[in-house]
Amino acid sequence: MTIIDVPEDLRAPVTLAQKMLIGGEWVDAVSGETLDVFNPSTGQVLSTQSAGGPAEVDRAVAAARAALTGPWSQVTPMQRGRMLTKLAELVEQNSEQLAQLESLDVGMPMMEARYIDLPFSIDILHYYAGWPTKITGDTIPVSFPHNFGGPYHAYTRREPVGVVAAIIPWNLPVMMAVKKLAPALATGNTMVIKPAEQTPLAIARLAELVLEAGIPEGVVNYVTGLGETAGVALVEHPDVNKVTFTGSVDTGKAIARAATGNLKRVSLELGGKSPHIIFDDADLESAVFAAGMAIFGGAGESCIAGSRLYVQRGAYETVLEGIAARANSIKVGPGLDDSSEMGPLISAEHREKVLSYMDLGRQDGRVVAGGGTAGEGGYFVEPTVLTDLDPTSRVLREEIFGPVLSVVPFDTEEEVTALANDTDFGLGAGVWTKDVGRVHRMAAAIESGQVWVNCYQPVDAALPFGGYKQSGWGRETCKENLDEYLELKTVVVQL
Ligand code: NAI
Ligand code: MG
Repeated sequence: MTIIDVPEDLRAPVTLAQKMLIGGEWVDAVSGETLDVFNPSTGQVLSTQSAGGPAEVDRAVAAARAALTGPWSQVTPMQRGRMLTKLAELVEQNSEQLAQLESLDVGMPMMEARYIDLPFSIDILHYYAGWPTKITGDTIPVSFPHNFGGPYHAYTRREPVGVVAAIIPWNLPVMMAVKKLAPALATGNTMVIKPAEQTPLAIARLAELVLEAGIPEGVVNYVTGLGETAGVALVEHPDVNKVTFTGSVDTGKAIARAATGNLKRVSLELGGKSPHIIFDDADLESAVFAAGMAIFGGAGESCIAGSRLYVQRGAYETVLEGIAARANSIKVGPGLDDSSEMGPLISAEHREKVLSYMDLGRQDGRVVAGGGTAGEGGYFVEPTVLTDLDPTSRVLREEIFGPVLSVVPFDTEEEVTALANDTDFGLGAGVWTKDVGRVHRMAAAIESGQVWVNCYQPVDAALPFGGYKQSGWGRETCKENLDEYLELKTVVVQL
């Protein structure tokens, strides 16, 4: 199987990603079928991946089950932690190569791969590497002995939930995979990872590093394929105990429904339409800079994109001008080109979707910057700023997942709180003000999993990340996340 137009030193991992890792062996789909892998910076096919389906999912789930009850059950908590540390070190040693693979596959600028995707993935692995030795039950004093005999000794055990299916999106593949792999393994589970069909490359290399870290074969399996075949087979599988998913709301709902077959546990990290609020008294220069990063970073293909910018009337003209200037100055170009500040969108199909929202913005409001395609060959669009929108416009309600910002003026704190919360989502939110009372009133009033004040989107391996409302179920990167991968068992012993 050929690979096309791939830098010399990335050929080995790109070739590796043509196969799947099941029970420690790199295999093709039994059907022999493949899916194309595209380079979004050129629009050309660069390689293929195996089109996995129910047959491969069955084998991978069986391998994960065998590892769970076999070799993995013999690994002590301290050893599990060391293996995760080792994996963190291997990811760090290979981070430039992984960053290049991400950039090639996703189109993300090297800057983002080098300074966000990979470093954060390494931090998450280190964070969870500390947990295995600290997962404990309780000894609980009971009050029933005088009624039922006794005395009794009662305690709880926290056990792995079992075989975990992790379904990954295409925007930050390594980071999204690590956000699921690290807690799943820290808590003693085994897993099957399915990358998005758009972006298998770096996760295949990550799976190879998992083996190199000494994690037993079958603990982490890697199956490629379409959502409607491999993805559905995983979420419907009767021997999968939990699904952890990041992606669209519609797919999240489909997964929640599919999981009812055996009532598998479900965690969902879904989309957003995050409000970013600037009051008159804010440091406007910093706020405008952050507002640009919040929507144009990652080409807006981010679940926490600050896509609704609310600006208090007195600052509205200044902010609108500043953000339009920022949009016009961003250098759009191929991911692997070091000078690119914003890469292409993920696919031709997705670009059509984003362009249709730009047209809708033109119809329902006014385009202040951008509004169309950019560059040549790849799936590029312009950083876009819209304003004067009809308040009922779908542009203000639906997740666009592209570099399209809507700017809306407001007068009062009460008004902007209502506007911010008038959404089906609740993932991120930003507030810029110097008024300390208002900081805490707004932080309490906004219905979302994260509120950033005088900053936007700093995330950390130790801070809970997740959403209110239709932004999902559960929280990642935090101690509470461990419970989503653990069963709690009560043991009562009559002494
Ligand atoms: P998607 O949610 O359909 O795909 C994400 C993952 O789910 C992929 O691995 C895919 O193969 C898998 N999948 C799809 N259908 C499935 C099913 N029925 N059962 C099991 N797995 C399934 O997202 P898609 O279609 O790539 O993008 C559509 C929109 O989703 C984007 O425009 C964006 O708004 C949103 N999105 C949000 C992300 C986030 O980080 N919250 C990430 C990716 C997309
Ligand atoms: Mg889809």
